[in-house]
Amino acid sequence: CGIVGYIGNEDARDILLNGLSNLEYRGYDSAGIALQNAGGVHIFKEKGRIAALRSIVDPEIQATQGIGHTRWATHGEPNRRNAHPHQSASGRFTIVHNGVIENYAQLRDQYLGKVSLKSDTDTEVVVQLIEHFVDGGLEVEEALRKTLKLVDGSYGIAMLDAENSDVIYVGKNKSPLLIGIGDGFNVVASDATAMIQQTKRYVELMDEEIVLLSRNGYVIKDLDGNVKNREPYTVSFDARDTEKGAYPHYMLKEIDEQPAVLRRLLQEYKGKTGSIAIDPAITRAISEADRLYIIACGTSYHAGLVGRQLIEQIAQIPTEVHISSEFSYNMPLLSKKPLFIFISQSGETADSRAVLVKVKKLGYPTLTLTNVEGSTLYREADYKMLLFAGPEIAVASTKAYTAQMAVLSFIAVAVAQGKGIKLDFDPVHELSLVAQAMERMIDEKALLKEAACDYLSVTRNAFYIGRGLDYYVCMEAALKLKEISYIQAEGFAGGELKHGTIALIEDGTPVLAFATQENVNNSIRNNVQEVTARGAHTAIISMEGVTAQPGDKIVLPKVHKSFTPLVSAIPLQLIAYYAALQHECDVDKPRNLAKSVTVE
Ligand code: G6P
Repeated sequence: CGIVGYIGNEDARDILLNGLSNLEYRGYDSAGIALQNAGGVHIFKEKGRIAALRSIVDPEIQATQGIGHTRWATHGEPNRRNAHPHQSASGRFTIVHNGVIENYAQLRDQYLGKVSLKSDTDTEVVVQLIEHFVDGGLEVEEALRKTLKLVDGSYGIAMLDAENSDVIYVGKNKSPLLIGIGDGFNVVASDATAMIQQTKRYVELMDEEIVLLSRNGYVIKDLDGNVKNREPYTVSFDARDTEKGAYPHYMLKEIDEQPAVLRRLLQEYKGKTGSIAIDPAITRAISEADRLYIIACGTSYHAGLVGRQLIEQIAQIPTEVHISSEFSYNMPLLSKKPLFIFISQSGETADSRAVLVKVKKLGYPTLTLTNVEGSTLYREADYKMLLFAGPEIAVASTKAYTAQMAVLSFIAVAVAQGKGIKLDFDPVHELSLVAQAMERMIDEKALLKEAACDYLSVTRNAFYIGRGLDYYVCMEAALKLKEISYIQAEGFAGGELKHGTIALIEDGTPVLAFATQENVNNSIRNNVQEVTARGAHTAIISMEGVTAQPGDKIVLPKVHKSFTPLVSAIPLQLIAYYAALQHECDVDKPRNLAKSVTVE
């Protein structure tokens, strides 16, 4: 979910609606805004996208403060009734909330027996509870702090008080939330992209803090009422970075940006001698560890799988990769000196953060790789490295994925250099060739569109197979296809298909094989034969001068064998993109998904 709030002297309606549009990637099941003026608080909410909400907001209403919300449903069906904002029984307090209140049922039963609730949401319990304590004689701020002390779970909230038009009440725990500072106005938002058109100056909020946000200032307090002083910082990106320009979709723009992102990364992580250099403290911490644990979700997890192989092969450090939500509750036996690497585009994924909090408590060193400076995982880890991919807006991750793999390769190389391991290749040169190879694949859109059309336009399911690094690429290829085209897809280790899943192969089932690795070229081709013999519609994606053979559907330009996933990423992304267009899906905002999932 995403939330915004504005208090100033301009018309709040468009500022809030535009802010919500910028946050729509966080969820788009339903949306709502509340506008406050002399006539009171006016609420508009609607099921579906921000565009639907925009069409029902009364254009006559003038207001200089308000709050808004775009929802990714956790509790309660995504309908208008459950859409935020929610109000207290008397209508005095109006709230928007991102997060999950775990003990809401218990709080409701304990304190709100007499109140009839209007929605099925955990959020309504918060606003009703605040009113309950205000009715009992507390000041609003005290009631807010008391309520938040009682609450278990995560929240980013913004609240209006119909009896006070000089303040927006804000609270944060675990869910991301920032205060944006303007001239004569202030804003609150789940992230800086929401309000980048208004201001570039932001103030971080820590867990269990509240803010009293007014037109000309902000007061941050902890839940005991102690004031916290914190200065704003300036975000480095521009409003233009979040626009899609002439592109039909953000995803296509972001795919095309990948060579430029890789070149920028090579600049950002270039040392004095022209080789790769990372913060020496990070190299030292990693070299001192006896085992690395990479923790991530979704696409970032797939980047982690590639990273593991690079780190083990190049830097020779044993490395494991774990899905955050599994690791959190099923922690494996750890080595004596572990170091944890968190990979997260957004830096906000709650599943990953839960692990970070746990391992920090155990006293282990942590490193976060993220695209968002100042995000929760960025702030809370001991060490951090940025992905420099620029804002990624499409829900399906593309440029952050390749940036993650690139930064992981930098870690592998820098640690190897630090340990005196002699590399048999020049990493900067090889990665520059990767950027060129990516460009060449980006120029092959017509071919990739044709492949999507031939193989995926009518099917309901598809398989990607590969071995070694290509297997991890296949997992990402299948995820991209599922996310945006809704084709049921699986990425398989080439040799494993025959142990069960081959039963699913029928006449015409698409099986696309990545074959970029010389040492397994013959075996993956055998696997392709096995499925071809059973009627599969097969295609091979191979590498020029390494594995390519006549008849291969797509041939990638040659790059160093450790870096092939960076080039393979382009066809896998573009094939998914064109398949989604053929299936008439909403490429940038696929159903049921949210870009940053800030609930566990
Ligand atoms: C969500 C997104 C995925 C993403 C995953 C991890 O599920 O839809 O695209 O890979 O979260 O996100 P992160 O920001 O931690 O990389």
